[in-house]
Amino acid sequence: MSHPALAPDHTAVVTGGASGIGLAAAMRFADLGMNVCIADADETRLREARARLIAVAKGGEARIMTVKVDVSRRNDVIDLEQAVRTRFGAVDVLMNNAGIQPGSKMLGPQENWQRILGVNLWGIIHGSQVFAPDMIAQGRPALIINTGSKQGITTPPGDPAYNVSKAGVKAFTEALQHELRNTADCKATAHLFIPGFVFTPLTANGRVEKPAGAWTPEQTVDFMLERVAAGDFYVLCPDNDVPRALDERRILWAAGDLVENRPPLSR
Ligand code: NAI
Repeated sequence: MSHPALAPDHTAVVTGGASGIGLAAAMRFADLGMNVCIADADETRLREARARLIAVAKGGEARIMTVKVDVSRRNDVIDLEQAVRTRFGAVDVLMNNAGIQPGSKMLGPQENWQRILGVNLWGIIHGSQVFAPDMIAQGRPALIINTGSKQGITTPPGDPAYNVSKAGVKAFTEALQHELRNTADCKATAHLFIPGFVFTPLTANGRVEKPAGAWTPEQTVDFMLERVAAGDFYVLCPDNDVPRALDERRILWAAGDLVENRPPLSR
């Protein structure tokens, strides 16, 4: 895993960083000697995650920052950006990862749809729009990694609000990538990260043991960082049903195409 943004003394911000995939990513960044800010809505999880991060951080507590944030609220994200810059300076890696999946129905309450779209889609829009201008202007390689879902591509039956939110993440991240590519002297790139089935509090449903075939958060983060460092825009983590689901929906991208055959993003 080698990318100029993923370097000691550089700074990473991870939303939803107090649990699951986000925490695994934050642990990797801390282990690399980066300054790490985890931003999460859950204060208890933030406290526990902070202790775990300090334990692995090269440079200890000085490298770790935790901020309580609701990513669906623009002002929270603006305050987050200012707080990170004041403490650590330039931001090199932004992982827009906070997400919820409480379940939804097509004709279910509007508040539920708004909450799911607010966190999963607006959270990623707020994060990208608030952080990207300085990440571009600072003129050094920077990464924006947005966490989508295969459900945003295959739109399986059930949970329509989640599917819509994640389809929006895909479309937004593609648009952001076009924008970054067309911005003169921009060394920031955007990446759409689509995990497979990862065993986390979001998917555990009361299970204690990882189900066969599920990824650990650490595995999925290692896979993602390797592909991002190699320049992939799409990082689709293969799992059992992704190729089948794509085929069933007659979506022409094979999983391998998404991961391997996209042109590298070197400018
Ligand atoms: P998780 O539930 O372990 O972690 C999500 C974190 O987001 C939690 O710490 C939660 O407190 C935080 N969060 C929720 N609402 C927030 C808000 N409004 N503002 C800030 N933080 C908030 O979940 P997991 O599995 O690690 O998921 C991370 C991302 O990966 C999500 O976007 C999810 O949709 C996506 N994903 C997960 C998959 C899986 O199999 N676990 C598969 C595909 C996508």
